[in-house]
Amino acid sequence: MTATIIDGKTIGQNLRARIAEETAALSQQHGIVPGLAVVLVGTDPASEVYVRTKSKAVTDAGMRSFDHKLPKETSQAELLALVQKLNADPTVHGILVQLPLPSQIDSSVILNAIDPGKDVDGFHPMNAGRLATGLPALVPCTPFGCVLLAKTVHTSLAGMDAVVIGRSNIVGKPLAQLLLGENATVTVAHSKTRNLPEVCRRADLLFAAVGRPEMVRGDWIRPGATVIDVGINRVPGEGGKTRLVGDVAFEEARAVAGAITPVPGGVGPMTIACVILNTLRAACARAGLPEPKIS
Ligand code: GUN
Repeated sequence: MTATIIDGKTIGQNLRARIAEETAALSQQHGIVPGLAVVLVGTDPASEVYVRTKSKAVTDAGMRSFDHKLPKETSQAELLALVQKLNADPTVHGILVQLPLPSQIDSSVILNAIDPGKDVDGFHPMNAGRLATGLPALVPCTPFGCVLLAKTVHTSLAGMDAVVIGRSNIVGKPLAQLLLGENATVTVAHSKTRNLPEVCRRADLLFAAVGRPEMVRGDWIRPGATVIDVGINRVPGEGGKTRLVGDVAFEEARAVAGAITPVPGGVGPMTIACVILNTLRAACARAGLPEPKIS
């Protein structure tokens, strides 16, 4: 069997087009233009690329983008003051502080200071708690995108065996909560899990979010399973160049799986689409309007 490739780029573009339509309707009918503030401290090249991509997606959707680039020496107090200013700004509906932050800043202090209603990353403990208890919440964008991709393959995830490899606060834990919300049977595996290949072979849905290049091998995958690869790892390629690979050995896996996301072009574009979806959701909630009907 050769797996169907889950084309996150096209699925993400279609999602962004639907968000742009809803955004246009919101501004025509209610005079509200959603705004996202993206804060970058320092000059990490990967973070600069993410921030540029997010800002472009925001303006492409017809939203306002407010970029704040601060020097790497910025103090915690200075960043906190900016967050408080953005919390109070009615034109800003979403706030995203790009991680990682420089070592003089405690990221949990900053993330906890963001107004939970503007927390488009879904990292505030209030949103994490609301997600865990099944209340409406802003949910982290990468796991949100992973579930949307899985639902392009399966109309319902109810009763499916889902295995999530990785237990980070950004991906693994919120992904497990979202899958529970979809009525999947969820196992969260991590670095201390015994017999990981065997655990993975139980999965109808396998999500890899460990940050280890090509760790998941073909023989870890149940034939016909859906594989969602969250990893983005830069490894040495041919001719002294580098290339991007996921956490899954793609060629081996596609020979066994039923459907699989590529890297790049799988989860990454969905994360960006979900940032703007969360900005739209935050703007609607702030105005007391119902959830946009998009996904
Ligand atoms: N750095 C890497 N991934 C993320 C993310 O999803 N959100 C933020 N704010 N920073 C990140």
